[in-house]
Amino acid sequence: MSAQEIAVELKSVRKKFDGEHEVLKGIDLEIPKGKITVIIGFSGAGKSVMFKHILGLMRPDSGSIKVFGQDLSELNDVALNNMRKKFGMLFQSAALFDDMTTIENVCFPIAEFKRHLKPSEIQDIAAEKLKMVGLGSEHFNKYPAALSGGMKKRVGLARAIALDPDILLYDEPTTGLDPIITEIVDNLIMDTHKLRAGLTSIIISHDLPAAFRLADEIAMLDAGLIKLFGEPKVFLESSDPFIQKFVSKVKVNNV
Ligand SMILES: Nc1ncnc2c1ncn2[C@@H]1O[C@H](COP(=O)(O)OP(=O)(O)OP(=O)(O)O)[C@@H](O)[C@H]1O
Ligand SMILES: [Mg+2]
Repeated sequence: MSAQEIAVELKSVRKKFDGEHEVLKGIDLEIPKGKITVIIGFSGAGKSVMFKHILGLMRPDSGSIKVFGQDLSELNDVALNNMRKKFGMLFQSAALFDDMTTIENVCFPIAEFKRHLKPSEIQDIAAEKLKMVGLGSEHFNKYPAALSGGMKKRVGLARAIALDPDILLYDEPTTGLDPIITEIVDNLIMDTHKLRAGLTSIIISHDLPAAFRLADEIAMLDAGLIKLFGEPKVFLESSDPFIQKFVSKVKVNNV
């Protein structure tokens, strides 16, 4: 891949906690621009830790992380904050502010980062994003407690796309949701990805059938290293017993 085609690049990234437990043991990964990359791996493999490194929320012990060619270690706090504007994030829990309504939740990052806008302009952008993810105005003034799980995800997603990010990160977007809402959220991820040409989507997922359905590329994290990276068919055709065991579930489901 040429440098222009890479959204995020990790090179020999190592991270140890408490001076002994090494979680990332030399991660090498090039996440392509404009595609959907799904990160899979067993619980505790270090997927969320890797995400935090991509966002610059954690610093590696050694190695480098580049976002659109910019080495994060060279950025000061202000520049790093600017860099984060390129990212939209959807957390597992949706992480909405409970004391804010639907529309206030989406207005929040816009007001924070686009201080020159008038309140009415901020509201208009927020309303547009909520409509994009399929939430009607009858829900705009409800508090999160009054929303279903799937609706909360939609609000979280509207907030994630509020600043028109270049990279969307999803950490376990469907874990804990029922199969119907899971499918709705998966479709929403796909639709959101197509909204803007060139958008890079990176998804951590436990849901293998969905991972294989959504992904252009899959990266498998195991024991602190990228065990395999490639298109879904690379995984399905792998003769490695470990990979075969992991994807057998997908094959059974006929995806
Ligand atoms: N801030 C931290 N301090 C110490 N250890 C941490 C910290 N964050 C994560 N870890 C450890 O790093 C390891 C990987 O955690 P991580 O949350 O990245 O796993 P994961 O692959 O996202 O798992 P899951 O699929 O369950 O979300 C775990 O053993 C965890 O205890
Ligand atoms: Mg995690």
